This record gives sequence, structure tokens and C-alpha cells, in this order.
Amino acid sequence: MPVSNKVHVQKDEVNAQRVMDRIEQLATFSSMEGMVTRAYLTDEHKAAHHQLGAWMEEAGLQTWQDEVGNQWGRLLSSNPTEGTVIIGSHSDTVVNAGKYDGTLGVIMAIEALSNLKLNNIELPFHVDVVAFADEEGTRFNTTLLGSCGVAGTWNPDWLDIKDASGISIGQAMKAFGLDINAIPEASRAGDKTKAYLEVHIEQGPVLESCGLPVGVVTGIAGAKRFIVDVSGMAGHAGTVPLELRNDALCAAAEMITTIEAYAKAQGIVATVGKCDIKGGAVNVIPGKVQFSIDIRSQNQELLENSCTQLLMRLQSIAQKRQVTAEAEKIYEASAVTCDSKLQSLWSSVTEDVTRKPVHLLPSGAGHDAMMMATIAPMSMLFLRCEKGISHNPLEDVLTEDVAVGLTCLEKMITAL
Ligand code: GLV
Ligand code: MN
Ligand code: MN
Repeated sequence: MPVSNKVHVQKDEVNAQRVMDRIEQLATFSSMEGMVTRAYLTDEHKAAHHQLGAWMEEAGLQTWQDEVGNQWGRLLSSNPTEGTVIIGSHSDTVVNAGKYDGTLGVIMAIEALSNLKLNNIELPFHVDVVAFADEEGTRFNTTLLGSCGVAGTWNPDWLDIKDASGISIGQAMKAFGLDINAIPEASRAGDKTKAYLEVHIEQGPVLESCGLPVGVVTGIAGAKRFIVDVSGMAGHAGTVPLELRNDALCAAAEMITTIEAYAKAQGIVATVGKCDIKGGAVNVIPGKVQFSIDIRSQNQELLENSCTQLLMRLQSIAQKRQVTAEAEKIYEASAVTCDSKLQSLWSSVTEDVTRKPVHLLPSGAGHDAMMMATIAPMSMLFLRCEKGISHNPLEDVLTEDVAVGLTCLEKMITAL
């Protein structure tokens, strides 16, 4: 970890250590021994929310679970004359995840509210902390379900989406103890929300390279995701000459390298994170292949055009190789800009705490903040993470950076 440019914040060091200890503890709520994997509406997810609820109560917050499974805690104001402030991040993870993605923001928010309560800070608004239940889309391939519930953009058709074992979201919700008829009650869209704040690890190397513990986010990249089904002809690996094959995997391979080259040329990012040979065997020419595409850009117009162009290129590869390729869009989120007043406020708070000029940076990763921006002024603070590694068990942060982040968050809440 970087040791230069340390910023010590005495007051919050003990609290930061408790945050780190709790992150370790929450990492044990996992479906995989020795790894962190916690998907939406699973038993380990329920247990993790139970633990988060217990910490919220210990902090003196009023707690509840909403109708899509998000866990909430409220620091009550005795005279709430202004809209509620919501601070959140997510409690679900990718497969074999790091410990900090999402979890850090939730546990830091609980700690900050606990500190405000201990110090009898009176605010003219309630402050809610929320652990969003599904940001990653690990189980159902559809993401931001928790914050969609809160933003009032939940689509009832999603109840029929099935996981890999054929269990639908609706069935999983019932098993989790949720009432699917009450889902609209999770919405806070009609409420007065003064601000939505999210603290998150950067998941990239910029802050580390600047020697800074925290940075203020300017906006979040838009994203689109597709599942592509390539169908050729399965056949005998020993008897069909190469030039007479319709090998679905070779076609998919050409498509995947084309996606990479095209994204590089356009200055966007594109990733194929999943690729399956259906019924693959060592002596069978692949007949069916399915792969995913995740494409992102801060520039929404460039993202739209790139997707159109790229899908056309995949079709010409399919034609050339005499296979078919069908692309289904499974997710899209538009690029969003963080609220400018909140960015300025975070900037003065971080400059005050770190005694260094603020670093403003965009987020390439998606966050619940994208959805919350549809119902409230939204802003985010990033914390430096080691070598920018994320979505990986090697994800790491410094306790002293958590201390800085906590002080910034507490100052931000009281400055709102
Ligand atoms: C969420 O982690 C994302 O894929 O950006
Ligand atoms: Mn993530
Ligand atoms: Mn995240």
C-alpha cells in the first residue's frame, strides 16, 4: 500500500478500525468458503442484512427492511424541517469479490451516524443509511434492483427473471420473506430527499497515483449489457475439414477480439466477462456459444453509436463465418452527472480535511447513485484502493484512508 502523503485524522482512527473489523466480519457472510460471494435474496444475504441491522440499532438508528429487501437505518431528527438525506451503497457482491466494494460505503455511513448520535449533533433532517440489496446483478443478470425499488423504477416483469437454477426473482423474494404485491411501497420517489450521498472505493488507480486518500466524483459512465447467442453447427472434431465447419466458438472468438479493437479505437471500454460453449466437449466442434458484452462510456452519444456499430460488425462476422448471432440487450443505464453544488461542498470538505487540493474524477464503475440521481441531488466520494484493484479478492484499502473518509463524511452531513 502507498505510505507517502499520509493524512492522519486522529479523532476517527478508532472508528476507522471498527469499520475495518466490521468489513472483515461481513465478508464471512458468503456462499463460498474462503471467498466473498453474496448474491441478492440468498440466505447469506439475509444474514448479512440482519448483522447490518444490528449494527444500525447499536448506533441508535431506527431500522427497517423495505419491500425489495434493502436494509435501512434512520438517525431521527427531532425537528425535520428539510427533506431526508440518504447515504447508501450495496451489500451484494460479485462472485469471489473483494471485501470493500459496496460494503465500505454502508459500514462507513453507519459509523458516521453513530458518531453524530454520540455527539448529540442535531440536524434539521433525518439521515437514512441504506444497504442496497442488489447492485451487482450477480444472481439474476440484472443490476441496481435495490435502488430501482427506491427510485420507483422497478419493472414488475422482472419478477419472472430466473437465476441459473430456474428460481425466479418473485419466488426468491417470497422465500426471503418479502411481499411482491407491496413492492411499490419501497419507492421514495414522491418524498422530499435533500441529497443522496455514496462513499465507495475508487476501483481504479487514479487516487493512488495522485497520492490522495479521497477524491470527489464528477459523474458516472453510462453502460449497456448484451447477451450474444452464436449458433453454428456441432460436428465431429476428427472428420469435418476446417474449411467446411461452422464453428460457433471460432466465430465468437473473432467477435470478441473485434469488440476489444473497436472499443480501443473509440476510447470507450468494453468487456466480455462471460463465455460458455453450450454442450462443449473435447471432440465436438462447438455448435452454440453464448457470451456477454458490457460497454461503457461517460459520453452517452458515443455509447449509443458504438453499440449500434459494434452489433453491425458482429453480424458481418456471423455472415462471413456462416453462423447466426443474436444479441439481446439485458441492461442499460445512462451516464449521469453528480450534483454540482454537492461536488463543491465535498471539495471544500475534503480540502479542509486533507489540506490538499481536491481531485475530481469520473466513475467508470456503475453505482446505486445512478438510480438515486433520478429522485435526488446525488454525489459520491471515492476512497483510494490498492493498485486500483477491484472485483477481486485482492481489493484493499488503508485504515487511515477510512479515517479521512469518515471525517469527510461527518463534516459533509453537517455542512448540508
Ligand atoms: C458494478 O460494480 C459495475 O459493474 O460497475
Ligand atoms: Mn462492484
Ligand atoms: Mn460497488
